Amino acid sequence: MKQIDCEALYRDGKHYDNQHMNFKDDIPFYLKKAEFYRSPILEIACGTGRITIPIAEKGFEITGLDISEGMLTSAREKIKEMDLKIDFFKIDCRYFNLKKKFKLIFIPFNSFCHIHELSDIEKCFENIRNHLSNDGGFILDIFNPNPEYFLKNPEKKRTRFEYPDPYSDKTVTIYETNEYDKAKQINRIKWYYHIGNEFIREEELNMRIFYPQEIDALLKYNGFEIINKYGDFNEAPFDSDSPKQLIECKRIK
Ligand SMILES: C[S@@+](CC[C@H](N)C(=O)[O-])C[C@H]1O[C@@H](n2cnc3c(N)ncnc32)[C@H](O)[C@@H]1O
Repeated sequence: MKQIDCEALYRDGKHYDNQHMNFKDDIPFYLKKAEFYRSPILEIACGTGRITIPIAEKGFEITGLDISEGMLTSAREKIKEMDLKIDFFKIDCRYFNLKKKFKLIFIPFNSFCHIHELSDIEKCFENIRNHLSNDGGFILDIFNPNPEYFLKNPEKKRTRFEYPDPYSDKTVTIYETNEYDKAKQINRIKWYYHIGNEFIREEELNMRIFYPQEIDALLKYNGFEIINKYGDFNEAPFDSDSPKQLIECKRIK
């Protein structure tokens, strides 16, 4: 089994939450889909519960699984202070068996791009099929690749995020470089963390790029029928300029 290479990046859920504190655009979309499909719901790669918790707060039964203990620790800490019951499991999405069927399964926020190898993609899809009820929905949320973004000057550091440090009154700045591997379709991103003026560490983020026709074919040949493909969280139809590939599927029986 090949190790997933993003565990170090996600070791601290408090940093993750501050980094993404202003991103909430996807939550109304998932709440709407939860209303449609109903409980039970499974979020794969749930992280710190950024989406899981708002869904549970609306009264849905939801389970979250993620590979990173640091992210799950934050998720569990948050619900301790709320009157909420959510099962958060530390499991790799390539190898899970919860012995339960779900009416809605989703993998949000480009998390699927952490799965690089075809055999792992196939295992993950097989697990999802096995956990999806016959009339259930599966939603995959990945970005629509923009070659101009990948082919930037690999040496040039760009400011990617600025957010309050969870452990001091300083600001964290993340600078980014990237190099795109055209053969493997992996965007090899490096993040350089600075707290205040001090350089702290460097992390790798390797994102598998799924081109639109490729992901549609992968879903089809792994037993899913696409029923909607949106280009954003307002459900605009997917097209060439769409920022997202938001794909809603059913199991092919
Ligand atoms: C971009 S974060 C998304 C977290 C959360 N869903 C959100 O929307 O904020 C990606 C998550 O994928 C998780 N992840 C990566 N590879 C995984 C795997 N093989 N199995 C389960 N989780 C994985 C990471 O630990 C991380 O929490």
